[in-house]
Amino acid sequence: MRRVITYGTFDTLHFGHIRLLRRARELGDYLVVALSSDEFNELKGKTSKFSWEERKRDLEAIRYVDLVIPEHTWEQKRQDVQDHNIDVFTMGDDWTGEFDFLSDLCQVIYMPRTPEISSTMIRNKMQGLSTAAE
Ligand code: CTP
Repeated sequence: MRRVITYGTFDTLHFGHIRLLRRARELGDYLVVALSSDEFNELKGKTSKFSWEERKRDLEAIRYVDLVIPEHTWEQKRQDVQDHNIDVFTMGDDWTGEFDFLSDLCQVIYMPRTPEISSTMIRNKMQGLSTAAE
């Protein structure tokens, strides 16, 4: 059993996320998603539209996702990799090089991001729509 892990906020779930999750799962047989907590998002300067529980519920509905765990800090990755017997750590290529320090524990793979879609883009569009409706 090859076990894969990935990290992120996954707010306003979109096809860039789904495509990332599909390719991550294809790297192995079991996919763990470490989902940024609301407090950790704040620390990163991100405000998500949906709460951790709501984002978790959406991720759990996706067939490529086997387990969702919370991400509370930048530093927890080594412990997560060890605790979950991870063989492959993967992220989108906006993070290229950032997590190479894990390569003594597992394989580290950066995958091409899907162009022209992001949670920020969706949040901005929603903001525009609600302003226009007022
Ligand atoms: N991702 C991707 N393609 C996209 C958007 C995200 O492959 N178009 C990947 C990221 O590289 C990351 C994962 O999905 O590995 C979770 O990304 P996240 O930061 O939650 O998504 P974004 O849509 O980029 O969110 P934001 O706009 O808030 O930064």
